Amino acid sequence: MNILVTGGAGYIGSVVVEELAESRHEVVVYDDLSTGHREAVDPRAGLVIGNLHNSELLVHTLVENGVEAVIHMAASALVSESVLQPEKYYDNNVVAGEVLLQSMAKADVTKIVFSSTAAVYGEPGCQPILETDPLHPTNPYGETKLEFERKLEHYRLGNGINYASLRYFNAAGASKRCGEIHDPETHLIPLVLQAATGKIPHIDVFGVDYPTRDGTCVRDYVHVIDLARAHLLALEILDEKSDVYNLGCGGAGYTVREVIEAVREVTGLEIIERVVERRPGDPTALIASSEKIKNELGWEPEFQDLHTIIESAWAWIRQGYKSPSN
Ligand code: UFG
Repeated sequence: MNILVTGGAGYIGSVVVEELAESRHEVVVYDDLSTGHREAVDPRAGLVIGNLHNSELLVHTLVENGVEAVIHMAASALVSESVLQPEKYYDNNVVAGEVLLQSMAKADVTKIVFSSTAAVYGEPGCQPILETDPLHPTNPYGETKLEFERKLEHYRLGNGINYASLRYFNAAGASKRCGEIHDPETHLIPLVLQAATGKIPHIDVFGVDYPTRDGTCVRDYVHVIDLARAHLLALEILDEKSDVYNLGCGGAGYTVREVIEAVREVTGLEIIERVVERRPGDPTALIASSEKIKNELGWEPEFQDLHTIIESAWAWIRQGYKSPSN
């Protein structure tokens, strides 16, 4: 299939592009490189450097490449930044997203897979979280992702565009070529690895008074390769229907302190912890029920063990990552 991947130079996007190329899809990446990196784009894919607000370039790219489906991953994706700059999040995640949908309608492209997030659930009442649970995002990032999910439904009804919204829980780990490095880095696993290698002096633990087994927040870490493979499965439903799926490994999840301990075990290095205040907006626990995508699409995460996930990120760092991606 001919597929356009927006944000295909980013952390998760670059691994999705690798998996698509591996399965012999023809891929064009559309990315403005504002946070992503040219080197992260698989050499088997084309690259168009462009902004999502540029409808003319989008329509041209879709038509020129005979695109049959879009995987839409370009977004602003930092919760804390979204609180400080809500207008940037609305503009990039909703307004620009709608330009993409309009461009698809003009170019007669009727399939889209969308990178959504667990942040659409806010502070959930019970775990594991089902797709049918209440949607009460607690920050502008989650709100804009939810608003775009709703736009997808409008364009399904109005323009016959079928969608699959994939609500990611905590993406982690690396492929051989691509891993996680943001600037600034805010995510737990890369920061703990930085503390292990001495790049930063310690890891801040954001709150130890949560009602969890060790007082720190619980998250559901899912390997970026498993996430990427779900996109290939999601493409397959789009001839028939539109739907929403959670993507996580489920189980008991891992606390912040369990993650730090696992990084100590994987690297064999000392890591200094510093307990600080809670980070505003962090839900206590986010654990996915991914039964729906398992039952309907046969998705089965291959790398469920946290150690395996961290080992892949550690291996990528030690090889002196040549293709930093954001
Ligand atoms: N944490 C620390 N210290 C740090 C960084 C993180 O204790 O230096 C804690 C956080 O408080 C949180 C956990 O580690 O409890 C995981 O934090 P991340 O920043 O790695 O990930 P989040 O769970 O905040 O964010 C993820 C995705 C977002 C998505 C969000 C949904 O990265 O895109 O889940 O809530 F929006």
